[in-house]
Amino acid sequence: MRNCIFVTGGAGFIGGNFVLDWLADANADEVVNVDKLTYAGNLKTLASLDGDSRHVFSETDICDRAALNRLLTTYNPRAVVHFAAESHVDRSISGPAEFIQTNIVGTFTLLEAVRAYWGGLDDAARAAFRFLHVSTDEVFGSLGPNDRQFSESTAYAPNSPYSASKAASDHLVRAYHHTYGLPVLTTNCSNNYGLITSPRS
Ligand SMILES: NC(=O)c1ccc[n+]([C@@H]2O[C@H](COP(=O)([O-])OP(=O)(O)OC[C@H]3O[C@@H](n4cnc5c(N)ncnc54)[C@H](O)[C@@H]3O)[C@@H](O)[C@H]2O)c1
Repeated sequence: MRNCIFVTGGAGFIGGNFVLDWLADANADEVVNVDKLTYAGNLKTLASLDGDSRHVFSETDICDRAALNRLLTTYNPRAVVHFAAESHVDRSISGPAEFIQTNIVGTFTLLEAVRAYWGGLDDAARAAFRFLHVSTDEVFGSLGPNDRQFSESTAYAPNSPYSASKAASDHLVRAYHHTYGLPVLTTNCSNNYGLITSPRS
């Protein structure tokens, strides 16, 4: 594989759209798609990539450190785009344990694997590397109709097990930058909506 990026959760709603959109560019880096295929993952949305050698799918849990180590050293990504999560607020209320496991322990496990891999890169590759953590605006709590919009400096105020687990993952990602120098980016988008559509279908 030539230059590649890792995408976690690339069989989910946003991750699947990201992979299709990314690979619609013929010159894009190849994608290693790391997804556990929970109830939320659906490979049919990526069917247009069947037979496309630029897309490698690995059914892997981000809590599986040994599997992550193997994938990282096999494919040598220049970046990780981290979508994988338990993502539905209502499910976090009826069953929070999976959210703690994937969103906190999984993100921690991924950060540890990436830190070890990144530490072994040469100076130029280490400087160019990025870990993009996809989080949510829900870490900032709720907005009333007359409230001011959230900003990066809004205090964290998660209100559900989902948002609390995402807030914890944000803090871990921040800490890995400040403690170890890992080059990270965190996004806190609000709700995404739409269909998964393949540009080639
Ligand atoms: N959908 C939204 O409106 C929204 C808004 C803000 C932020 N986000 C964030 O964006 C990201 C993607 O959201 P989505 O709506 O596409 O989620 P989704 O639930 O549709 O997809 C999540 C994907 O992650 C995979 N996954 C779950 N646990 C895993 C594990 N332990 N190891 C590997 N893969 C695992 C699932 O199989 C699935 O393919 C999430 O981190 C979410 O918190 C989503």
